[in-house]
Amino acid sequence: MIKEMIVKQSELETLSKEELARAAAALFPAAFGQKPRLDHLQDPENWGSTTFVQVKAASQEVLTPAVYGQAIGQVVGSAVRDAEDRLAGKIQQIAQEVTALGVSANLALKGVSDLTDAARPPLDEVEGLVRNAVAAAFKPLQESLNAAPAEIQRQVVEASPRELKSVEEVFDLPGEKGEVEVWGPRGEIDPDYIFNPQLLRMALKALELRDNFWLFGERGTGKTQFAMQLAARLGRKIFRVSFDRTMERLDFLGGGGVENGDTVGVWQDGVVLLAMRTPGAICLLDEVARGKPEYLVALNALLEPGGTYTIPITGEVVNRAPGMIFIAADNTDGNGDETGRYTNANQMDSSFLDRFAFSEEVLFLPVQQEVDLLIRKGADPALAKKLVDMINVCRAKVGAVDGPVEPPSLRQVMAFVRYYGSDTDEMVFKRTIINKSSSMSAEALLQIFTSQWEV
Ligand SMILES: Nc1ncnc2c1ncn2[C@@H]1O[C@H](COP(=O)(O)OP(=O)(O)OP(=O)(O)O)[C@@H](O)[C@H]1O
Ligand SMILES: [Mg+2]
Repeated sequence: MIKEMIVKQSELETLSKEELARAAAALFPAAFGQKPRLDHLQDPENWGSTTFVQVKAASQEVLTPAVYGQAIGQVVGSAVRDAEDRLAGKIQQIAQEVTALGVSANLALKGVSDLTDAARPPLDEVEGLVRNAVAAAFKPLQESLNAAPAEIQRQVVEASPRELKSVEEVFDLPGEKGEVEVWGPRGEIDPDYIFNPQLLRMALKALELRDNFWLFGERGTGKTQFAMQLAARLGRKIFRVSFDRTMERLDFLGGGGVENGDTVGVWQDGVVLLAMRTPGAICLLDEVARGKPEYLVALNALLEPGGTYTIPITGEVVNRAPGMIFIAADNTDGNGDETGRYTNANQMDSSFLDRFAFSEEVLFLPVQQEVDLLIRKGADPALAKKLVDMINVCRAKVGAVDGPVEPPSLRQVMAFVRYYGSDTDEMVFKRTIINKSSSMSAEALLQIFTSQWEV
């Protein structure tokens, strides 16, 4: 109705200012035949529209700037709201599209993974196949190498790449002289393991001469770890057999399937034979005096420098690979236990013992090194020093009338440090050291503890 009034030019003059203002506000949108757009209003080209010109003419004459501004404000406000609406609509549309895309991408991925799951055999099967294929490819080479005379084997291994490095660098022993062959990438290294330089020199000499050797000593003095860490640092493969009295020849050498008492089927190498076949390997015969002497004698032929083993089922002759040596580790030196503390340690056959070039006693760490080790394991320096001092009094009194029958081990001392603070010091000492020692030591250990600890 207002629109019609305004369109008739003659009637414009009869309208009051207020009516004109309302007419102008209402007519801006209508003037463009669509929802008003800010750019439309600002563009003088659009001002050619009859209605617009009429309204403009009328309003310029009769409207104050304030009323005119209000009319414009309404149009602009409406344009902004419209733009916001459209923008919100667009955002929602985009969000929907993204969601739809995500859903279809997930579907596609699931489809692919269903497909590959269906087509893919289990992972260990694949690994097994790869391992078998590699083993099969190398078997002829391995066999001809095993069958080759020792001199040729030696040459093959000598020719294989080994790096000469300084002992100082390989064993983190500043000032230590000499060089050593490193066979491959380092194994699992315990950065806290402290090498006794004297023992290390003997061991490196034995490796150079391809000699076996025997380590003996108190429990927890680091015999097992010495062999493991030696191998790890030199990049040599380590094969460890832990002996006990139930262990039979088949357990360490190998065997085939047994049916009705007969050995049948495929031969499976035991740990010792695997080591025999591996150039540069260290075979650790751990707790070896716990093994039965009559079974251990079967190792005699292997322990010799040109050692061989003939596999009973197949007749295959396995030569001791170049650079491979045996290290025996035990609490005893193989001549039985005189202390009565290692009841399962056997007297070894002397022909077996004779095949180890030397026997070396592994002792507890010197005081300062034990203190440093405990600090590295988390002990407060003052506590570490006090503990090692007290433990060394216990160790010094072993065998004395008022002393314990066995010294506290490094394992026990490290356990004390781990549990320190969980109870009174005396209770921690009882749990980690006294209760783990023979009952004959208990009184002496407690007495030393009470006299030394609080001083
Ligand atoms: N020299 C050392 N430096 C650092 N840690 C050591 C050292 N000696 C022993 N240890 C630590 O003490 C623990 C016992 O060592 P290991 O098992 O080698 O002793 P062992 O002499 O073989 O004992 P057992 O006679 O009971 O078999 C290990 O946790 C080892 O890391
Ligand atoms: Mg050991």
